Amino acid sequence: MKKISIAIVLCFSLFKASADEGMWLPMLLGQQVYDDMVKHGLKLTKEQLYSINQPSIKDAVVIFGGGCTGEIVSNQGLIFTNHHCGYGVIAGSSTVEHNYLKDGFYAYSKDQEIKSDLTITFLERIEDVTDKVESSLKGLNAVDRAKKIAEVYKQITDKVADSVNSVSGKIYSMFKGNQYIMYVYKIYKDIRLVGAPPESIGKFGGDTDNWEWPRHTCDYSIFRVYTAKDGKPAEYSADNVPMKPKWFLPVSLKGYKDGDFSMIYGYPGGTNRYETSYGIKLKNEIDNPSLVHLRDVRLKDMYAEMIKDPAVKLKLAENYASVANYYKFYDGETKQLEKYHVYEAKQGVESKFGTWAKDKPDYQNVLSDYEKNYATWTSSAKERVYVIEGILGSSLVDYASSLMALERALTQQGKTQADVKKALDAANEERKTFLAEEDLPSDKKIVAATGMMFYTDVDKSQHPIGFYQGIKDKFGSLDDEATYKAWTNSMFDNTMILDSAKWAAFSANPDAVTLQNDPAFAYASAFVQNYILKYSNAYSDFVAKNNELGRLYMKGIMEMNPAAVKKMYPDANFSMRVSYGNVKSYNPRDAVHYDYETTSKGVLDKYVPGDYEFDLPANEIDLLKKRDFGQYIDKSRNDLVTDFITTNDITGGNSGSPVIDGSGNLIGLAFDGNYEALSHKIQFDKDLNRTICVDIRYVLWCIDKLGNAKNIINELKLVR
Ligand code: ARG
Repeated sequence: MKKISIAIVLCFSLFKASADEGMWLPMLLGQQVYDDMVKHGLKLTKEQLYSINQPSIKDAVVIFGGGCTGEIVSNQGLIFTNHHCGYGVIAGSSTVEHNYLKDGFYAYSKDQEIKSDLTITFLERIEDVTDKVESSLKGLNAVDRAKKIAEVYKQITDKVADSVNSVSGKIYSMFKGNQYIMYVYKIYKDIRLVGAPPESIGKFGGDTDNWEWPRHTCDYSIFRVYTAKDGKPAEYSADNVPMKPKWFLPVSLKGYKDGDFSMIYGYPGGTNRYETSYGIKLKNEIDNPSLVHLRDVRLKDMYAEMIKDPAVKLKLAENYASVANYYKFYDGETKQLEKYHVYEAKQGVESKFGTWAKDKPDYQNVLSDYEKNYATWTSSAKERVYVIEGILGSSLVDYASSLMALERALTQQGKTQADVKKALDAANEERKTFLAEEDLPSDKKIVAATGMMFYTDVDKSQHPIGFYQGIKDKFGSLDDEATYKAWTNSMFDNTMILDSAKWAAFSANPDAVTLQNDPAFAYASAFVQNYILKYSNAYSDFVAKNNELGRLYMKGIMEMNPAAVKKMYPDANFSMRVSYGNVKSYNPRDAVHYDYETTSKGVLDKYVPGDYEFDLPANEIDLLKKRDFGQYIDKSRNDLVTDFITTNDITGGNSGSPVIDGSGNLIGLAFDGNYEALSHKIQFDKDLNRTICVDIRYVLWCIDKLGNAKNIINELKLVR
């Protein structure tokens, strides 16, 4: 068999995909891509983009927390990211009295900064480990490959791990397992909150404007990395000092015009640009609609309580925001996939592949195997989504399901007292977090609603045996909402999870029978066990086979058309990438033109006093009306520019990413994608895809004029 993986390393970035599509590995930029960047307006050398010998832009780009990007903007470890990335920390640091989520927060000196449990991860270097991985996996079938891969990764990453210096390796499968690259990271753990705007500014427009252009949100928050005195990563300590970074981004006050170069570094989480028609069908017909249907109900139940009470709003804010964000995403994704006929387009690609693969033993069965694999799994797909997004969509039930680890410690042979203690300690810790964020009225409604939806929507043969009969016997007709309400009330009234005295008694002397008889535990366990017994192996097999078929399919596509290989970049997988493009207006539909930037005028137009999503602080309205824009004014517009759009290819995970001009200065923070391109994970649309960014001058205006935090402005290197 032709060995293609090595060829890819050399070639994949030599040529560029159509238009501004492409999430490139900055450390493996081919000359052709680099030249194209220069043609687009880049004025930096390759070494300035990525180097392991001297400081380069990559040293200023970090993984923020578990799923966002951030950038270093001062020589004292100051970080900019999005408000929605700092959201959990901002809400978690807030009380109704000191409500930083609502009112914003600035540290005017370092001692006012707020400790967090975040980590910040820097990329040190990368290493191609394809040969090492492949030699260990040779000859294994799909399922065995999947089983062994974690162990193989560990053997390789163990060699670079250095806990004293907080260095660790992580291996990423590129091109669906046709190449493996290890990223070596350094992780910092003392991260403090420095500033955030009021939510009305940082999330202006709320879920109505989310995933939409034109936008007027100022989606930023500010943090700082601390190190031990010797500069090494360290746990939080009052003695720690601000980090001295290798590189930080200067901040431009110059702005840009339509067509200017823009480059975005960051950590895009996931794309599947070589998805098959089978995958799209499952997504559009089952996975997305099921998730959307269940989330819709959960969101309405949470929202009804959040608008009533600021304390509830703070408790539920983070969970609500993340559920709402991808509720709208998956709904829109299916709408756009259908609108653009992506299913049919993929069928076209597959038909060509099928013709090419006909007499090739390695590839001739790939498509029919895909078809079989999806056919085997499809009938169970809905059950799985209904467990994850429905049954476990309740915080109580989700927490109760985590107690299955304790149950195992109490019942499994070979488990010791020490195992029980460990599981119990973990359960106690998690219970505290759960209780701090639990809102009983909305959670009860969610349990009743999702319990009934599972009953109604999921095939009866897939229900946990006897479970619904038990409800029927005690509480009445299974077609009646009142039955589920009575059942839920009884569960909430009787579970020891919500009763501190009962919980303390159980904790003092934990036993399996008490746990198994607890109504919340019994409920969670019935559904999770049912899934584990009947579907989880099938699901792992489905995923393992799909991965293996994906690897072959990708390899075949590359062999089929060697010229195409040159235009390929690996799918996003939360490894560092750079994308480049231009600031650019677009036409979303017939006769409609969208400008490339928004201004303070639009902010005032959208402002609705007292509204949940479109209210703003009085001082902002006041200063905007006075047109007090200071040094942040855009001279050509004679206005404060708020947000702008670019053609860059990014996705979730890039949130907080630096938008960089041709000279390496920060011009904005990427924070969203547009509605017309919500199908972007599967297909990049060269005419309609846009990245939505907040103009850095609007960020600085908020910090300076509204927050009066001159200390932050003074720390930056401003370029005029
Ligand atoms: N859609 C954005 C993203 O996924 C999140 C925007 C947060 N704002 C909001 N209104 N939910 O990165």
